[in-house]
Amino acid sequence: MASAGIRFLAGDSGDWHIKDINAYRGESLPSAARLSRSRADAPMHDGHRAWSLQGFTSNLRYTERDELRRLREQQEGLGRIDSLCAALIPIRKNEAWWALAQDERRAIFESHSRHIGIGLNYLPEIARQLIHCRDIDDRFDFLTWFEFKPEHADLFDRLLEQLRATEEWTFVDREVEIRLEFAP
Ligand code: HEM
Repeated sequence: MASAGIRFLAGDSGDWHIKDINAYRGESLPSAARLSRSRADAPMHDGHRAWSLQGFTSNLRYTERDELRRLREQQEGLGRIDSLCAALIPIRKNEAWWALAQDERRAIFESHSRHIGIGLNYLPEIARQLIHCRDIDDRFDFLTWFEFKPEHADLFDRLLEQLRATEEWTFVDREVEIRLEFAP
């Protein structure tokens, strides 16, 4: 069975207050006051809609057994009551990335860039979800979602700084950082 679709809708309603939308690379997204995050098949609310993004969770592509074990041991799920901060970061990688073979992508992703190795240092403080949308939307390939406590905002900034300095990130051609605050 296909995995559940997830939809982000920016406009004038939703549980998340949009604090900032910042284009780290490439074109930004229009500004909006609030963001909702729901199943893709949930009814759409009325009112002004600035933009929407949709994708689905999927199987792992690059994670190896031992990494998976460590992730499962260390990570915590979404929806923690004190995770009042979140970030939605839609990302697109360039044609050079997609032209590579699977083993070449894995080499850049982990052997050279240590994406998982770096990320593990930020668990369990940062909770995460990877959503795929490459096959249904040419604006982005991934919608990445993170939740954390307000006092861990600096930690999250450090994580972004570390990942963006890697070889993997030289293949990112569009990245928009949307910072959110839980305010239902
Ligand atoms: C919180 C720490 C993090 C951990 C533990 C982590 C872990 C992972 C893992 C295990 C994968 C591979 C999934 C697979 O095997 O298919 C992955 C993929 C990915 N992560 Fe992270 N990550 C973290 C933070 C981030 C951040 C902050 C961003 C964005 C700014 C990000 C963006 C991505 C993207 C775009 C992919 C897909 C890469 C691709 O398939 O080409 N991750 N992450």
